[in-house]
Amino acid sequence: MQRLTTLDQGCQVAQLRLLLRYVDTKTTAMAESVYRNPVTDYTCPDQLAAERETLFRRHPLLMGLGSEIPEPGDFLTDDFSGVPILVVRGEDGVLRGFLNVCRHRGSRVAQGRGNRKRFVCPYHAWTYGSDGRLLRIPHDEGFPGVDPACHGLTPVPVVEKYGLVWAMTSPGAEFDIDEALEGAEGDLASFDLGRYSLYETRVLEQKMNWKLVIDTFLETYHVRVLHPSTLDPILHSNVGTFDEFGRNSRSIYARRSLDELRDLPETDWDLVHHTAIVYVLFPNTVFIVQQDHLETWRIFPVEDDPDRARMYVQLYTPEPALTESAKGHWDRNMDLLMSIVLEEDFPNGENIQRSFYSGAQEHVTYGRNEPALGHYHESIKRHLARAA
Ligand code: FES
Ligand SMILES: [Fe+2]
Repeated sequence: MQRLTTLDQGCQVAQLRLLLRYVDTKTTAMAESVYRNPVTDYTCPDQLAAERETLFRRHPLLMGLGSEIPEPGDFLTDDFSGVPILVVRGEDGVLRGFLNVCRHRGSRVAQGRGNRKRFVCPYHAWTYGSDGRLLRIPHDEGFPGVDPACHGLTPVPVVEKYGLVWAMTSPGAEFDIDEALEGAEGDLASFDLGRYSLYETRVLEQKMNWKLVIDTFLETYHVRVLHPSTLDPILHSNVGTFDEFGRNSRSIYARRSLDELRDLPETDWDLVHHTAIVYVLFPNTVFIVQQDHLETWRIFPVEDDPDRARMYVQLYTPEPALTESAKGHWDRNMDLLMSIVLEEDFPNGENIQRSFYSGAQEHVTYGRNEPALGHYHESIKRHLARAA
C-alpha cells in the first residue's frame, strides 16, 4: 500500500512504539488533570453569539482542498458560517475570496460550485470578473454616478497553503495561517494534500451543539461501549497519543492491526496504515487521516440556536476514483462512516444535548484519558476571553 505521509520515519516509529506500549499496559495519553466544563458551554445563547463573532468571523476557517478548484475560473461557494463566501481561482492561478453578495441589491452572484469566466448575478445581471471587478451594469443609464470601480465584489482574505484553503469571513481582515496552525503545518505538509481528489460531500444537520459534534471525535474511551459491532473490531478502545499544536491538536488512535508491527522491522512501520489520526484544526474542523484516505468534518452552529449543528463531511482519495471497484470501495467507506455516526454517535449526542436542560448537573467531566477534550474546550475559552 502506498505511504500517505512523508513524516520522518523516526517520528512515525516513536508514535507507534508509544501506542504499542499503551496497548500492552492498557492505558492511553493522559491529561494533567480531570477537566470540568460547564453545561452552559453547550446551551448558552450568549456564548454562541460570542463564538459566532470570535471564531466564525475573526478566525480563518478551512474551506477545503485547493485541488477541488485547480483551474482558472473554478469556484466554490460556502455560507455555513452564516456569511456567504465565494472562493474563485483567477486567470493568474491565484485563489481569491469575496462576499458572495451582489453590490446592486444583495443577491448571491454564484451558487454551488463550477467554473465561470464571469459571474452574472441572477437578479438583474450585474456581471463580475473572477477577480471580483464589476464588468457590466445592464442599462447603466439608470445608474448615473455609480462608479463600477467602487462596486466590485467585497474581498475577504483567502490563503492557500499546504494544499488547503482557508478564508476569513470578515472583509478587511488579514491573517497568517502559520500563526493559526501553531506547528501543525509540518504534519499537514507531510500528507501532500495537493494530489487528493474530493470523492463525496455529505451535509448533515443534528440537534446538538456544534462543539458536541466535535467532541465525538476526540476520544476512543467510548469505542467499545457505544460501537461494539462497528468500530470496536477496527480500533482499540481507550488507546491514543495526544499532542497539541497551540490551539490545534493531534490524537493518534490505534487500529487493531497495530499488533502486526511486532513482527516487522521498524524501517517498514507505517504510521498511517495502523492508526486513525485525528487533527482538530481550530476552531471547527476535524481532519482525519484514515489509513487510505482523508475525511474532513467542518462543523458549524445553525444561526443563533445552540442546540443545532450543520456540517460538511468530505471524503478525499489519494487518486481520482475512476473504476467501479474504486468507487465501490469509497462508497463502502462512506456508508460505514455514516452508519456509525448517524445510528450510534449522533443519536447519543442529541440525547446528551437534551440532558443538558435536565438540571442533572452543572458541568460535564472530561477524564484524564480524554485529553483532547479539555484541550479543545480550553482553546475555545482562551479565544473567547481574549476577544472579550
Ligand atoms: S441584485 Fe444583482 S444585479 Fe440586481
Ligand atoms: Fe464514536
